[in-house]
Amino acid sequence: MSTLDALVAVITAGVHDIQAAAAARGASYPGTDAPPSAAGDALQADLAARAAPVVAAAWQLVATLQHPQSYLLDLSFLAHLSSCLAVAEAAYVPDVLREAGEKGLHVREIAAVRNVDAGKLERILRYLASRHVFEEVSPEVFRNNRVSVALCTDKPVEEMVKSPIDRWDGTNGVAALVSLNGADNQRGAAWLAEHLLDPATGHSQEPNEAAWQRAMRTRLTTFEWMEQPAHALHLRKFGNAMRATTSADERAAATRGFAWGALPAGARVVDVGGGVGNLTMALAREHPHLRYVVQDRHAVAQEAEQLWQARMPGFVENGTVTLQGHDFFAEQPVKDADVFVVRYVTHNWADKYATQILARLRAAAQPRTKLVVIDVVADYMSRDGGAAADIPGAAKPQAPAPLLPYPDSATSWTYGMDICMMTLTNCQERTLGHFVELLKGAGWKLDRVCRFESPLPQQLICSPL
Ligand SMILES: C[S@@+](CC[C@H](N)C(=O)[O-])C[C@H]1O[C@@H](n2cnc3c(N)ncnc32)[C@H](O)[C@@H]1O
Repeated sequence: MSTLDALVAVITAGVHDIQAAAAARGASYPGTDAPPSAAGDALQADLAARAAPVVAAAWQLVATLQHPQSYLLDLSFLAHLSSCLAVAEAAYVPDVLREAGEKGLHVREIAAVRNVDAGKLERILRYLASRHVFEEVSPEVFRNNRVSVALCTDKPVEEMVKSPIDRWDGTNGVAALVSLNGADNQRGAAWLAEHLLDPATGHSQEPNEAAWQRAMRTRLTTFEWMEQPAHALHLRKFGNAMRATTSADERAAATRGFAWGALPAGARVVDVGGGVGNLTMALAREHPHLRYVVQDRHAVAQEAEQLWQARMPGFVENGTVTLQGHDFFAEQPVKDADVFVVRYVTHNWADKYATQILARLRAAAQPRTKLVVIDVVADYMSRDGGAAADIPGAAKPQAPAPLLPYPDSATSWTYGMDICMMTLTNCQERTLGHFVELLKGAGWKLDRVCRFESPLPQQLICSPL
């Protein structure tokens, strides 16, 4: 069978499978022109794993059908697609069109809301419509489709105009994350080649010497930069955007993977770099027989107190949860932990720093202490999984050729996020082989991997070496 035939076969069989699964629930799979509905969203989320090979095959079909030059040039323009999404978000286009309804709105009126040049916005929206975000219903008249609706904050536009900084509060964080990627995080991207080829900067592992700092002409880390009063909007955007990356993980991490429920009553779990304790909230709700310590920077731990009072009253007061200001580069104060958990912490730090964080935990560990690293694992694109593939739980089913071995990771944001991390702070997502080495260097042995569907993070269960 030719590659083209094989790809078309994957797509045809996959689409039939998805349609049958939808029909079994009395629904049909929504197109981009279908009206937005919570049921349609839930259906797509539930069938995402079945859709992944179809999506991967469709990408591969494009790469196969297009002349290599066309394909490459198309890819090289994609940064502009990201920045166009950020413009649409900043001009409130999704919510303006939500209020305009089915008939849509002329671009002159859309542009007037935020005083954007109508001719420029028209071209931006047309580019997005060519990639199925918005629809041009008649010349220069645009309306939302099912994809662009997902960028809505659902707040009255009048309110958004009055108070731009508040627009992402209470949302699912998607608009904030799209804006963060398309406007803020991208700034270093154009400098990446020059930065990496420069011997003075290309090998740096410092969080304040990445391409982003070159572009912004600063020696501040992105976090320090955002904390400056002049960048309050960015800080607020960042906080809201993080919700879009973590909200799906919490319940999964509390109910699957590491056997939290099997720990004895009173066992102590330390959520290191736990932020305001989102993961611990889910753990404490499911496993109230355990005792938890959430550690983060002092300012974050203080912020967490109010949040716990509002969302989980009683848990701090009755001693189930302790909120503790602690610098994870300093000596770990909890010496009797049953579990140290670090979620989305290692990906924030280059090896040099991630090793220090993990070594601090190793120095405080008892022989029984487990380390649970919850983070993105970047699959190799090869069929050979490397030596780490033999670790219990590490093996992952592979799609048959000509598809890439792991269609779910090939079509998720794992690799984009990895380069985003490189560009912003010289940090990264890691392959399993890389994790094994990192852990070993800090005195930990990777015992077992608990797999979750991409883009949920994976759980690495480790013991002291
Ligand atoms: C990506 S967030 C992950 C938060 C949390 N683990 C979660 O999954 O929601 C990384 C966390 O590391 C914290 N952090 C950064 N530097 C730290 C340090 N030196 N000591 C303790 N926490 C730190 C940040 O404040 C932030 O809350």
